[in-house]
Amino acid sequence: MGFSTDAIHIGQEPDPATGAIIVPIYQTSTFVQEEIGKHKGYEYARTSNPTRAALEKNLAALEGGRHAFAFASGMAAINALMTLLKAGDHVVAGHNLYGGSFRLFDKVLKDFGLEFSYANTGRLEEVASAFRPNTRILFIETPTNPVMEITDIAAAAKLAHERKVFLAVDNTFMSPYFQRPLELAADIVVHSTTKYLNGHSDGVGGAVILNDSGLADRLKFLQNAAGAILGPFDSWLVLRGVKTLAVRMERHDSNGLTVARYLEGHSKVRKVFYPGLPSHPQHDLARRQMTGFGGMLAFETGSLENARIVLKSVRLCSLAESLGGVETLISHPATMAHASVPSEDRQRIGITDGLVRISVGIEDVGDIIADLDQALAKI
Ligand SMILES: Cc1ncc(COP(=O)(O)O)c(C=O)c1O
Repeated sequence: MGFSTDAIHIGQEPDPATGAIIVPIYQTSTFVQEEIGKHKGYEYARTSNPTRAALEKNLAALEGGRHAFAFASGMAAINALMTLLKAGDHVVAGHNLYGGSFRLFDKVLKDFGLEFSYANTGRLEEVASAFRPNTRILFIETPTNPVMEITDIAAAAKLAHERKVFLAVDNTFMSPYFQRPLELAADIVVHSTTKYLNGHSDGVGGAVILNDSGLADRLKFLQNAAGAILGPFDSWLVLRGVKTLAVRMERHDSNGLTVARYLEGHSKVRKVFYPGLPSHPQHDLARRQMTGFGGMLAFETGSLENARIVLKSVRLCSLAESLGGVETLISHPATMAHASVPSEDRQRIGITDGLVRISVGIEDVGDIIADLDQALAKI
């Protein structure tokens, strides 16, 4: 069926015990067994829980994958993915990842013998030259956070597969509503469900979605063995959020484009980073592999002082980390999400001190623009 129908129904059949139309929150740690080895499919809630199982079934369907696993956060999901590897394995990762992913790779996993190289994955020749004989995973974000660089997923998959490397895509920014990497031949999708999938800024979670049964068996083992699972209430919140993903994303998209056009025409704004604008250097690629452009954008104010004035002056837009909620959030990547990225690396990838990021919410767009207008007027 269509995306919205799947989002509302898959994994969410009426509760067999009561007919409840909403999947119950199975807030239980264990499940009573009739006799040794005889149970109803659930034994212990770290291993599996019906609310989490419903979410996992739903997310697998939305991404067009066979298997999904829900974790306690996006970072827990990415960490679990990397534990598919062993010491001595090598990962090629985008040079402009979410700062927390870079921190996990550089400050944690490196110490366990995993090797990482960083490449501008928007330039596939850079990726090709970063591959080594021990490379196992190519890990990308597209669009990147916050300068919205796009990687050609199908071309990256081809390059990876020629070398028997798995392509993993962090699809947090677009959500499966606008971009389905598995259909473009990626092997693995990860999400911070904290963002658009939940959509209401009231829970932290993550997911890994994939097709390969061998990898899925191992990931299921790791999910249980390491135990960073998404709890039943948080699973329920994401299930609730996903039901409105399509309508929310449509509105994020139209508000995002309207705000991007407004900013592009503003005399105090030097540059706008939004893949839906024809001025975006990869606008054509974005149109090819995404079915919308979403609500994330960034703009250049020219200096730290200007950024500070805007961020201090906004009233409707809330100064906060995170993204993908119904409310508009505004942030300063250099000192917030990307603070863990060394300053020279930030400069190289375009995260200047004057850069401001907006997660455009689904409020009335005129109100968002009026707020930005009065804040920019103070520069
Ligand atoms: C693109 C991206 N991936 C992963 C994460 C990490 O997710 P979480 O905060 O749920 O651990 C974030 C968080 O901001 C993100 O923006």
